[in-house]
Amino acid sequence: MAPVNKSEKDRVIIFDTTLRDGEQCPGATMSFEEKLEVAEMLDDLGVDVIEAGFPIASEGDFQAVSEIARRSKNAVIAGLSRGQPNDIDRCAEAVKFAKRGRVHTFIATSPLHMRVKLGMSPEQVIEASIASVTRARNLIDDVEWSAEDGTRSEMDFLCRIVETVIKAGATTVNIPDTVGYAVPEEYAQFIRTVIERVPNSDKAVFSVHCHNDLGMAVANSLAGIGGGARQVECTVNGIGERAGNAALEEIVMAINVRKDKYPYWNKIDTTMLTRASKLVSAATSFPVQYNKAIVGRNAFAHESGIHQDGMLKDASTYEIMRPEMVGLKQSSLVLGKHSGRHAFVHKLEEMGYKLGANQVEDAFVRMKALADRKKEIYDEDIEALLDEEIAAAYDRIKLSSLTVIAGTHGPQRATMKLDIDGQTRIEEAEGNGPVDAVFNCIKALVPHQAKLELYQVHAVTEGTDAQAEVSVRLSQDGRSMTARAADPDTLVASAKAYLGALNKIVMKKQRDMPTQAAS
Ligand code: KIV
Ligand code: ZN
Repeated sequence: MAPVNKSEKDRVIIFDTTLRDGEQCPGATMSFEEKLEVAEMLDDLGVDVIEAGFPIASEGDFQAVSEIARRSKNAVIAGLSRGQPNDIDRCAEAVKFAKRGRVHTFIATSPLHMRVKLGMSPEQVIEASIASVTRARNLIDDVEWSAEDGTRSEMDFLCRIVETVIKAGATTVNIPDTVGYAVPEEYAQFIRTVIERVPNSDKAVFSVHCHNDLGMAVANSLAGIGGGARQVECTVNGIGERAGNAALEEIVMAINVRKDKYPYWNKIDTTMLTRASKLVSAATSFPVQYNKAIVGRNAFAHESGIHQDGMLKDASTYEIMRPEMVGLKQSSLVLGKHSGRHAFVHKLEEMGYKLGANQVEDAFVRMKALADRKKEIYDEDIEALLDEEIAAAYDRIKLSSLTVIAGTHGPQRATMKLDIDGQTRIEEAEGNGPVDAVFNCIKALVPHQAKLELYQVHAVTEGTDAQAEVSVRLSQDGRSMTARAADPDTLVASAKAYLGALNKIVMKKQRDMPTQAAS
């Protein structure tokens, strides 16, 4: 949120180019409808300028930019264009229905780009820039000019051309770090020098546009603002050419969290950042890296026991911003092999379980054992584990160990050790498949007449390391008993589920005829 004393000189204009620089990167193409949806979200987010596309690039781009312009609410809608007259005209045509439209024209200014790419002399580049900005200004009041590969341009030439385009009517001057080569102090000084040396620099807003080739796009953008720029060009999730652009959410939250270092303000509603990230990720089919700052799924997740304990005592121990600030409901304490008792008990309470100290201890040990075999423990895993925990407290027949030999060279064999009323028994059996071998072992160890009525397996959560949840229904004497068990090993889950149902039958018999023993 903006500081109380907002002054215009400290305001940073947020220019979002998700729909242009972001969309032009390989694989991020969005459909017409997706572009409209993203544009609407950006407008609601509080973005000042939405660069909606490159109208000359295709008919589709032109249509999208014009429709976004028509539907715009508060944001300025910009289109990109090269310096050629037809390019500029097409761009102005596309943004003309916006409440406020902008033509953003660019030309390369580095010796390398001018020579190799454009085949133009510096003087020709100056002439072309004057012509393009003048043409654009005759069509629209808001004109941005960009010096492509700005950071590798010669300072004297850059200052000369910037002065000229401002004279020609450019209202915003952008000095991009097109190839992500700059480092923060250097970029800050670069922007500062241009602003100081260009005599009419006060007649335009200076802008930064940084690529992330060395992972410094956000740091460079913030440094550029420190150097005097007051517009920052960025994209949601940092998508963009090659390694991407500066990430909008990171810039905004850095300014928000470190007001002491970045005393600027902007109009972004930070509580929409998570939604924005999800929408752009879905529209582009670009996944967000798990550990991505601000919007990655681990950005507010804690697994280590020490961190979880700190978080439960006071969230500021390990979080420099509250998840609500970026639109998340809460931080998550992810249970895994590094989690401690404190977090586990907290999770049980959250899930509504009330267990005695011993049961908690047993469940904790089993959760740790499960976490050693499984990357992430979900609520469903804990439920499965606790249902077993509670049932196991009353069981007379318990599984001690199980080994199964399965594969193409049958018959499949199972060796099982059971604890029956405190006595250990072991048996081996063959079967028509591993599950049959496991169930035959149980029948050999605990002879019974119960019939298997149902055997069902499903994965509790996603992934090949997910726990298998097995349901078994046994019927005897006209009564059916069902039990469930979960384990990353399907055969262990099968044995436990079968034994669970069998235990219920034994218990029932025991209640009916108290003298009868389990077997
Ligand atoms: O990276 C760049 O230089 C650009 C310009 C077209 C602004 O995207
Ligand atoms: Zn760019």
